[in-house]
Amino acid sequence: VAGAGYEVVVGPSLLDRLDALLAPHSATGYAIVTDSTVERHFAAPVLAQLQRLAPAFVAAFPAGEWNKSRDTWAGVTDQLIQHGLDRAGLIVALGGGVVGDLAGFVAATYLRGVRCAQVPTTLLAMVDSSIGGKTGVDTAAGKNLVGAFHQPVAVLADVDTLRSLPAVHVAAGAAEAIKHGVIADPEYLDRLLSAAPAIRQRDPAALFEAVRRSVEIKAAVVTEDEKERGRRAILNFGHTVGHALETAFGYELLHGEAVALGMLAEARLGAAVGVTAPSVAERVAVALETFGLPMEPPGALDLERALPAMQHDKKVRAGAVRFALPKALGEMARDAEGAWTLAVPSAAVRQVLSEWSR
Ligand SMILES: NC(=O)c1ccc[n+]([C@@H]2O[C@H](COP(=O)([O-])OP(=O)(O)OC[C@H]3O[C@@H](n4cnc5c(N)ncnc54)[C@H](O)[C@@H]3O)[C@@H](O)[C@H]2O)c1
Repeated sequence: VAGAGYEVVVGPSLLDRLDALLAPHSATGYAIVTDSTVERHFAAPVLAQLQRLAPAFVAAFPAGEWNKSRDTWAGVTDQLIQHGLDRAGLIVALGGGVVGDLAGFVAATYLRGVRCAQVPTTLLAMVDSSIGGKTGVDTAAGKNLVGAFHQPVAVLADVDTLRSLPAVHVAAGAAEAIKHGVIADPEYLDRLLSAAPAIRQRDPAALFEAVRRSVEIKAAVVTEDEKERGRRAILNFGHTVGHALETAFGYELLHGEAVALGMLAEARLGAAVGVTAPSVAERVAVALETFGLPMEPPGALDLERALPAMQHDKKVRAGAVRFALPKALGEMARDAEGAWTLAVPSAAVRQVLSEWSR
């Protein structure tokens, strides 16, 4: 896929030729950073291939969002030091978004920065988190509060790895693909919904098409605005409420599920303040249902917890909560100054979310 500023390869059987794909980025050594689940599935063959190129080792940490932490960052960094990975070494982030964010942050900081290749193995990581160079870890106060921009040298998305991905994670990844359709390409959204049964059965051709188009959309937005000073903010559609839901419900909600619900709430919010065509929320609801995503949170939403979480969000400017809102399918709204986020009165936010607080 062109346009990301680095090579993004999407296809089947990439893990079988990782050595050939990574050889052009010649390195003095390879650190395969992964989590315990992905390690079980894929680490051995990847290690064997990379050892043909240079010394290689696996640095694994226990799977789970709660391990995307500063402690894990320190533990993985220590492993790199022990193995003596030098500045010409390469970190291979093998796994989902948790691995990609964590390994990317290790790469951004280890020896003041070493190169990193993203090898995503979840649908969410393929369509979204492996592209764009955002890396980081969570803290008790909120998600992704510590991190860095660190672009990978290559992204290699092998859709065959998705065969073993649990169904809930297929749906969670589809949420970010739905977002790409809503913010940039309504025809893609239509194609995604028609392909939903095939995607849910992990049909390689259907997965390939979705990953390819999502990568194109995300890459086009982030290359234009690498550090999120402008239009990149449109990728945050669904994420302001989504992050608040993640804070309120902890690990009961997957990131993709929280974004799915966030899109529904934000489309309704946009309609309530007269920015978003009501048909957007209707289409989002159909999309969530089609992919078996949740249509409401797992319990009553505590507004006193959720609303302050939005104030903590990095998308808050000058005290007002700002949202990336669609005007219509495929068309994002701008404010009077041309910004891609709009300030919304907190009373309106409270009103829309109160439906979930009972
Ligand atoms: N950097 C960004 O731009 C960006 C964008 C979106 C999301 N994110 C982050 O991504 C994270 C969520 O990523 P995720 O949903 O991929 O979660 P994840 O990395 O936790 O993966 C989900 C689960 O699936 C397992 N798994 C991974 N690949 C597998 C495979 N092929 N077969 C079987 N099991 C497999 C993992 O071990 C894990 O248990 C969140 O922390 C979120 O903040 C980052």
